[in-house]
Amino acid sequence: MCGIVGYIGKKNTKEILLSGLKELEYRGYDSAGIAVLSGDDFSSFKAVGKLINLEEKTKNFTTDSFAIGIGHTRWATHGKPTELNAHPHIGESSYVVHNGIIENYAQIKKELENDGIKFLSQTDTEVIIHLFEKKLKTTTNAFEAFKKTIEDLEGAYAILLVTKNEPKTIFFAKNGSPMLIGINEENEKYFASSDSPLIGQCNKVNYFDDGDYGYVTEDTINVYNSAHKLKKLNLLELSTNKLLAQKDGFRFFMEKEIYEQSSVISDTLMGRLSDDEILFDELDKSFFDDINEIKLCACGTSYHSALTASYMFERYSKIRCSVEVASEFRYRKPLMDKDTLFIVISQSGETADTLETLKMAKEAGLKTLVVCNVDNSSMVRLADACILTRAGIEKGVASTKAFATQVVVFWMLNLYIAKQKKTLSSQEISKQISLLREVPSSVKVKDTTHEKIKRLSKRYLYGHGFFFIGRDVFYPLALEGALKLKEISYLHAEGYPSGEMKHGPIALADPELFTIALLPKNMLYEKAKSNIEELSARDSTICAISATEFDKADDHIMISSYDNYMLEFFEMMVVLQLLSLEISVRLGNDVDMPRNLAKSVTVE
Ligand code: F6R
Repeated sequence: MCGIVGYIGKKNTKEILLSGLKELEYRGYDSAGIAVLSGDDFSSFKAVGKLINLEEKTKNFTTDSFAIGIGHTRWATHGKPTELNAHPHIGESSYVVHNGIIENYAQIKKELENDGIKFLSQTDTEVIIHLFEKKLKTTTNAFEAFKKTIEDLEGAYAILLVTKNEPKTIFFAKNGSPMLIGINEENEKYFASSDSPLIGQCNKVNYFDDGDYGYVTEDTINVYNSAHKLKKLNLLELSTNKLLAQKDGFRFFMEKEIYEQSSVISDTLMGRLSDDEILFDELDKSFFDDINEIKLCACGTSYHSALTASYMFERYSKIRCSVEVASEFRYRKPLMDKDTLFIVISQSGETADTLETLKMAKEAGLKTLVVCNVDNSSMVRLADACILTRAGIEKGVASTKAFATQVVVFWMLNLYIAKQKKTLSSQEISKQISLLREVPSSVKVKDTTHEKIKRLSKRYLYGHGFFFIGRDVFYPLALEGALKLKEISYLHAEGYPSGEMKHGPIALADPELFTIALLPKNMLYEKAKSNIEELSARDSTICAISATEFDKADDHIMISSYDNYMLEFFEMMVVLQLLSLEISVRLGNDVDMPRNLAKSVTVE
């Protein structure tokens, strides 16, 4: 995910910006840049790839007197990870860095282009600087122009902007994306998008609220709220623990990533929903013409999101769909017809088995699409089209938010196709779009649920194994729940279709067999319930996850009551992730780096 730093003070601004960006490296990025304004001199540097490339470019540049500066690490969402797309973005005499997504950028860009402004990058961010400079021409000062610019922006942002018109000032605005300012006794001011760059530099910090904007000079920090009222700073002591700061105070990266699913899913949705249709700028309108079948190919967790997607492709898009584990597909000499769309799913975009299947499909002349989290990865470069999931970097080896965003992308993709092929009514599409808007709140972790799972986890540490069971899309979710548990607890767990238990595995049922039963209210409730009753009658220990009480279960984790099964799916997903996490913690395992596993599997 992108990172922001800013600095006002007398120390070596370049060094401070670069070391701040280094502290943000853990968040993942594919390019970086800085802009430094010292008196009348403006210097800006950008580089693709690791920070060492930026350091190399700036090695002959120094600042030794008062200067202001802004810096950025970019994780590509709009536009490729190129130098032109890297931040800071430049106007005639100003620079901007931005985290988040400007939802109405296309409309603003069109208006600015009509005014004759030439854009250098493919980013949404670039509109901010040109809009600001346009406003500068009709306002009395830079702050007014900045304020008016912010008023025109829709979406999520943390913005720092510097301009030659006010060479000793940094303008800032925050809405939806995190940003804070830090101060110290030496009268320096530091901006950052998370605590870690400020640790060791500042002793007090103020976390900006959504809607806050203002400006900072050497002597002033003026913060206004969304009602344009001047605010008092709420200065807090800054923690001194860097690792804790990187984890945003959570115990593990996996826990942080579970908790941030709500905000990353908002990023996945951003700019892609209108009231009655799904917008994918990245897809050509004719992309799905002449497609009669879809084949999905992936590994591990991504395979589970593919399985989930296959239910939707047949149910919503009415396209025949099959799913394959990539390592199997590679060697079984599969038949590939030209009217099949081949979709690969990968968090990293580098998984060797999946990449190979993509090459096979291309060689066979199939149209290809990748759903991926990393722009410019091998799969993104190879496929005909790509939809980015925008989950940001995932540090925990056990995938959580990558899975969640993949499923959200597939839900959107199905509504996109359903609109084109008229396989769902416009009312149904609009209804499902409003449900998509509810996903971020359905995955918000409730304190009471997390507490309950923490307590329950002690009962699920020993025994001879786990069965996670579900029907329909809750079957792939059960597979994913079982995989999560295996990965970080090292306990044996299987995912199984609820209705299939009686065809063999039920023989294992006894009090030492733990059944984690997914019992959604809105999908085959009665059927799933009787499957669970069969296990309960054979004395399996049952933990039901459901919005309704179920007296045949030993334990029950309650979810909210929804009228739609996909919202139940997303809330249950969080419950399963937390359950594995808490069992792993109780067993004393390394949650973020489980034994024998690597984050990206680039070998066969
Ligand atoms: C499980 C997990 C793995 C990956 C699999 C594919 O938590 O992370 O199962 O899903 O190795 O990786 P990607 O999605 O990068 O292709």
